[in-house]
Amino acid sequence: MERLQKVIANAGVTSRRKAEELILKGLVKVNGKVVKELGSKVSDKDRIEVDGNLLTKEAKVYYLLNKPRGVITSVSDEKNRKTVVDLIPCEERIYPIGRLDYDTTGVLLLTNDGEFANILMHPNDKVDKKYIAKVKGIVKGDTINALKNGVIIDGRKCEKAKVKLRKIDLKNNTSMVEIILHEGRNHQVKKMFESVGFEVLKLKRERVFIFDLKGLKSGEYRMLSKKEVAIVYSLQKK
Ligand code: URA
Repeated sequence: MERLQKVIANAGVTSRRKAEELILKGLVKVNGKVVKELGSKVSDKDRIEVDGNLLTKEAKVYYLLNKPRGVITSVSDEKNRKTVVDLIPCEERIYPIGRLDYDTTGVLLLTNDGEFANILMHPNDKVDKKYIAKVKGIVKGDTINALKNGVIIDGRKCEKAKVKLRKIDLKNNTSMVEIILHEGRNHQVKKMFESVGFEVLKLKRERVFIFDLKGLKSGEYRMLSKKEVAIVYSLQKK
């Protein structure tokens, strides 16, 4: 027997948090009856309906995409723009783990495994994300130190970050800065630079945890290996 929200998330319909919301809203039925209790346990034999749709078990799939610019990180878009899911033709109902802005490129993981997504989304010292930002202007040591120590964005201090100046281009008046974060706040990198007076011109995520862009051109994707999936799951036990 497993918890209802876990079974829904594992079926690839949505994240566990969203599954909990659906249960609380009375949109989940087990064997024809609405169940609103979050702890409810279900088995393989139970018939589960989520918002009127029967839950079926899908094989778990895991993808790593090198997200190009001009694609939205979502499963669908009301303005009919291209989404990251459109770039990966597959039968399963995959969704992105976390979010990259429309104009941000780089590492994005997609899956239909809610538990896997949850592990990577959950704050964890071991799951870090490495970004490279091209910013307008020449960044100096005091700015790097301010970013390292944690600037305030949206009224809240960011955690300490690893920040390195990779290169400056005096001719074009730009700098390349590497930032490694554990947090994943909305538009975090752009807002961090804004708070120290710099505009981000280009942003690329080079790595999430152990996943980098090796062998993937822009718009290309690959499936994760069983070993890679197991390494993510091993974080749960620590
Ligand atoms: N920080 C941003 O500002 N944008 C992203 O897409 C990712 C991190």
